[in-house]
Amino acid sequence: MKENNRSKFASKIGVILASAGSAVGLGNIWRFPTEAGENGGAAFILIYICCILLLGLPVMISEFLIGRHTHANASTAFEQLAPKRKQWRWVGRLGVLSGIMIFSFYSVVAGWTVNYTVEAGLNRFNQMVGDGQENVYAQYFNSFVTDPIMPTLYLVLFILLTHFVVARGIEKGIERFSKLMMPTLFLLLLVLAGFALTTQGAAEGLKFLFQPDFSKIDSSVILSAMGQAFFSLSIGLGCLCTYASYFRKEVNLTRTAGSVALIDTFVAIVSGLIIFPAVFSVPGMEPTEGPSLVFVALPNIFHIVFADMPILAYTLPFLFYFLLILASLTSTISMHELITAYVHETYHLSRKKTTYLVTGIVLVLGVLCSLSLGIGSEYTIGGLGLFDIFDYLTAKWMLPIGGLLTALFTGWYLDRKIVWEEITNQGTLRFYGFRVFMFILKFITPLGIFLIFLDQLGAFNWF
Ligand code: TRP
Repeated sequence: MKENNRSKFASKIGVILASAGSAVGLGNIWRFPTEAGENGGAAFILIYICCILLLGLPVMISEFLIGRHTHANASTAFEQLAPKRKQWRWVGRLGVLSGIMIFSFYSVVAGWTVNYTVEAGLNRFNQMVGDGQENVYAQYFNSFVTDPIMPTLYLVLFILLTHFVVARGIEKGIERFSKLMMPTLFLLLLVLAGFALTTQGAAEGLKFLFQPDFSKIDSSVILSAMGQAFFSLSIGLGCLCTYASYFRKEVNLTRTAGSVALIDTFVAIVSGLIIFPAVFSVPGMEPTEGPSLVFVALPNIFHIVFADMPILAYTLPFLFYFLLILASLTSTISMHELITAYVHETYHLSRKKTTYLVTGIVLVLGVLCSLSLGIGSEYTIGGLGLFDIFDYLTAKWMLPIGGLLTALFTGWYLDRKIVWEEITNQGTLRFYGFRVFMFILKFITPLGIFLIFLDQLGAFNWF
């Protein structure tokens, strides 16, 4: 491959922050507390961490080494490594397709975070409670997401923001933006957690997060933890494979993967530290609230808990939703880049044109996803609107299939020598656990992922 013509991330810290930027997103701050809350807290978290180590890390390292070895987009990468078995490139193509779908519905939720930041900035949430209506936040949420205009506008705004960063390229756009945003994000996160820990529900929140009740563990908890691990680490689509194609040869792949997984898990747990103390501070609020925890319960909680300190009741929700925007943006950038790199290199379209094209496609699909929650809700397939179809197909099926195939590819098909060379940077780095790593990659990871499917099938009572 023409390695020298291709852009590269300039610094090691840029590599880590851009990859961590992809991983850290709505998956950590919105989906993780929801899942942990619904699945019993600490016990779920323990299993989640095992999934990160045994399933997530091996797949992430595989994506990294496939991308860095070929310096090509996800589809071409598989094609180059398996010239005799062209079918493997479908793993990359499946990833690009999933990327388009995830990008479309993810942007809808990301658009909501922009709206919530604006509303918090205008102090609307604190005024809403004034009339004493109990579920005023739920009403607001429902009327907002089903509105045909506002969510669409915010979605368009969000996709254009993503476009703007990707259009500036790898180093000047993605790397520079991640270097600025990720530290800001960490800072905001810690400030918010600090305040959450001063609330009266802090002790109970901590107990929920850290004191496991093993009686809560059943097969569905284990399987939810696996799905969450995949989504949160951005693996299974070739997103990180694409990023790795911009890594220099000095980058230590296993260490980078370890740092990204550590940062991702850290952010998820700190998000739990923000949300659960807050939840337990409000009588009648349950951690099992579901996906509305962040959009319905949280404004309510901030308002009640900081009733005596209006400045905090105003500032904290604003910071929180702003944090969600930053986190989502560094993730949608990686989805955009996955698709852009593929189209640009496969169809030999200029990078600029490709960026516009990808933005255009996602805008159309994103608007349709957004409308499917409101005025378009009668258009369904199998009872699901477009938003739900995209969510369901990608998170539950395409992502684990991609991860499973990636693990099988690296573990069984790829020449072991290539794996060794990439992991040790041509033998210059030491890596003691290579055999263990290969064992996990060959057996444990594929088997674990296979169980996700059994769960999905079981959930629909097909057997
Ligand atoms: N991991 C991101 C999050 O937690 C979302 C994401 C970005 C993603 N790229 C991905 C998920 C690729 C799956 C595949 O919000």
